[in-house]
Amino acid sequence: MNLLERAANRRQAALGSLDAANQAALGQFFTPVAVARIMADLVRLPESGTLRVLDPGAGSGVLSAALVDRLRRERPNLQVSLTAVELDARLWPALTETLADCAAESAVRTSLVKSDFVQWALHTDERFDLVIQNPPYRKIRSRSTLDSDLRSAGIAVPNIYAGFMALGTLLLDAGGGQQVSITPRSWMNGTYFGHFRRTLLASFGIDAIHTFQSRSEVFGDLGVLQETIIVSAINGPQPNTVRLSSSVDHRDEPAVRRVPASRVVTDDFVFVPASSQDAEAIEWMACARHTLADLGMMVSTGRVVDFRSREYLAYETADDAVPMVYPSNITRQRVVHPRDSVRKPQWFRATEPVRTKFLVPAGTYVLVKRFSAKEEKRRLVAAVWSDDGRRPAFDNKLNYIHCAGHGLDPEVAAGLAVWLNSKPVDDYFRVFSGHTQVNAGDLRQMRFPSLDQLRRLGESTHDPEEAIRRVMGMTRMEAA
Ligand SMILES: C[S@@+](CC[C@H](N)C(=O)[O-])C[C@H]1O[C@@H](n2cnc3c(N)ncnc32)[C@H](O)[C@@H]1O
Repeated sequence: MNLLERAANRRQAALGSLDAANQAALGQFFTPVAVARIMADLVRLPESGTLRVLDPGAGSGVLSAALVDRLRRERPNLQVSLTAVELDARLWPALTETLADCAAESAVRTSLVKSDFVQWALHTDERFDLVIQNPPYRKIRSRSTLDSDLRSAGIAVPNIYAGFMALGTLLLDAGGGQQVSITPRSWMNGTYFGHFRRTLLASFGIDAIHTFQSRSEVFGDLGVLQETIIVSAINGPQPNTVRLSSSVDHRDEPAVRRVPASRVVTDDFVFVPASSQDAEAIEWMACARHTLADLGMMVSTGRVVDFRSREYLAYETADDAVPMVYPSNITRQRVVHPRDSVRKPQWFRATEPVRTKFLVPAGTYVLVKRFSAKEEKRRLVAAVWSDDGRRPAFDNKLNYIHCAGHGLDPEVAAGLAVWLNSKPVDDYFRVFSGHTQVNAGDLRQMRFPSLDQLRRLGESTHDPEEAIRRVMGMTRMEAA
């Protein structure tokens, strides 16, 4: 058995010793060996000297073992100084064994820090050339001790995994360094991680990204269903190209491409165009330049949470009843209300001040489902609520696009629905959003045609893709 195989056995044994409650609380989802190898392969190896390595939240030490395994094959003369940090005492024996196994290789020194990584990182003077990590995943409550400790170092993050990443970058030597991490993809877009993303990208470039096409398989033995991604970031300016690799799960050979960095790293997001189709979807979107705010529009989430508003909901209409609209009222990109197949109460009855709190002014709105049903091909599903003189109530599983709380120009609304329901926009959305929900924040950050173009789209009688091609002035080639 070699070093990595022995580490794999320890990983398995260590997993067996964990109890489920602690495993969730400490985010103990150990990296499969094949994934550890992919991560180790992304490390840029110096020719000579000493490589100072940090493995925060080291678990049973599989990442360290994969790295040392590669180093000894490819750079037998490089000096390695390896620091592993682990909080859970139950993992120290396995980790100690893995580190001893690493140290048995020539020119490898190891040390185990038995401590909370955040506290240690905030106080240590040590600096490193490489951080390789699979950090724990846990939401951080705002104003908790952890939150304020991280904020004291200028780190504002909603999840501990991003805290580990941010601390990792702070512990890299100012003169250079690289961080290879496997984490959920959620930090790459959206407002929650905006501060973290901007801070990271201000001083680090994205060197390589590895994605797994199968969401469930990577940590399959541990039941993790998050979309996971490996990112290599290097201290310094953004390199001109990014190496993108992707495998179905962790067992097959990765497909590798290099793409211009401008297609991956933008001011707002990090895109992951894992395939050439993804890259085309992003390039295609360059035709649209306006945010909803630029166009004087806003997006909000429906105001009615049905189970909290039961007293105002009714199955039968009445003189004072107004429509209560759910995602299931949207079919084939149209709102059908009332709809026979909807089993929920489709009428809202209330007097002031409840009406003003829950209803929107009569008008035309674009509704966008927040969750797509399994059988739907698209993540983006939009439909126009047309003004019929009544003030509708929108369920909070819908987002609605409006103009400062009021309705939209009906032609613009029609154009918006055509745009959002089109295949290229859906393809783009899948690349830019790592999750299956359609958040109001995502819609706020997306790009749209001008008002004039939207009106023309709304009036067009062509099929949606052809209408977009004509209105956006694209040739067939560009639109493909
Ligand atoms: C996702 S696991 C990864 C383990 C290992 N690096 C691997 O790749 O298999 C995260 C590890 O971080 C440890 N951990 C959780 N919170 C920690 C903290 N505050 N400080 C140090 N380690 C922590 C857990 O016990 C667990 O071993």
